[in-house]
Amino acid sequence: MTVEKQELLYTGKAKNVYLTNDDNLVWVEYMNQATAGNGAKKAEIAGKGELNNQITSKIFEILTKHGVHSHFVRQLSDTEQLIKRVAIIPLEVVVRNVAAGSFTKRLGIEEGTQLRHPIVEFYFKEDALDDPFINDAHVELLEIATPQEIEFLKRSALRVNEELIKMFQEIGIRLIDFKLEYGRTHDGDILLADEISPDTCRLWDINTNEHLDKDVFRRDLGDIVPVYQEVLNRLNDKF
Ligand code: TMP
Repeated sequence: MTVEKQELLYTGKAKNVYLTNDDNLVWVEYMNQATAGNGAKKAEIAGKGELNNQITSKIFEILTKHGVHSHFVRQLSDTEQLIKRVAIIPLEVVVRNVAAGSFTKRLGIEEGTQLRHPIVEFYFKEDALDDPFINDAHVELLEIATPQEIEFLKRSALRVNEELIKMFQEIGIRLIDFKLEYGRTHDGDILLADEISPDTCRLWDINTNEHLDKDVFRRDLGDIVPVYQEVLNRLNDKF
C-alpha cells in the first residue's frame, strides 16, 4: 500500500505531524522555526528544517543498524520523514557526559568538566510548568511511567549514549549532552522517538571546542545554518 499524507494531527514548535492512510504511521514535516527558553526566543531560519530532518534521519538509520528500536521508518524528502505513530511519553530524557547548560547552573560545576560517568535526568514535558527537573518518584507519582519502564528508559538512554559517543567521535565531535523522547505504540512497546539533531544535542568540535549546536542560537554566537550543515557534511562523509 502506498502511504498517503492526510490531515494535520499535531503542530509542535519545530514540526508538523500528519496522519496517513495507515493507522500505525504518521508523516512528519520539519519546519524552519527555532525556539529557545521554552519559546521565549523565536526565529524563522531558512534551511534549518531540512538540516535537522537529514541529520536526524541519518542518526536514526545508524542507531537502527546498531539494534536501537526507534519510531523512524524512512526519510521521505529533504524536510519529511515517515515514522511509526506513538503516544509521546511526557518526559525529556537528558543524558550528560560533560557539564554544560542547566547542569552547570544547578550544581555549580564548571562548563566543560568531564563527568566520571554519564548521568540520566528526567524533565517533565509540560510547557505551563516550564518543563521542570523531576526524579523517578515524581515520574511514578504522576503515572508517567512504571518503575520497570523508568529502568528501561534509563538503560536505553545510556545505550543510545554509547552509540552516539562513538558515532560523533568518528566525525571529530565530542558529545556533551543530549535530550531524547520516547513514545508508546498501539501495542504498548516503548520506542525512541522525536529527533536527534544539533537542536537536541550539545556538540563540540574535538579539536577547537567550537559549538556545533543550538547554543549558537541560544547564546547569539552567529548563524546556525553553516554550523548544522557542517555536522551533516561530516556525517555524510563518514557514514
Ligand atoms: P539543558 O542543559 O538546558 O538542561 O539541556 C540539556 C540537553 O538537552 C541539551 O543538549 C539541550 C537539550 N534540550 C532539548 O533538546 N530541549 C529542551 O527543551 C531542553 C531544556 C534541553
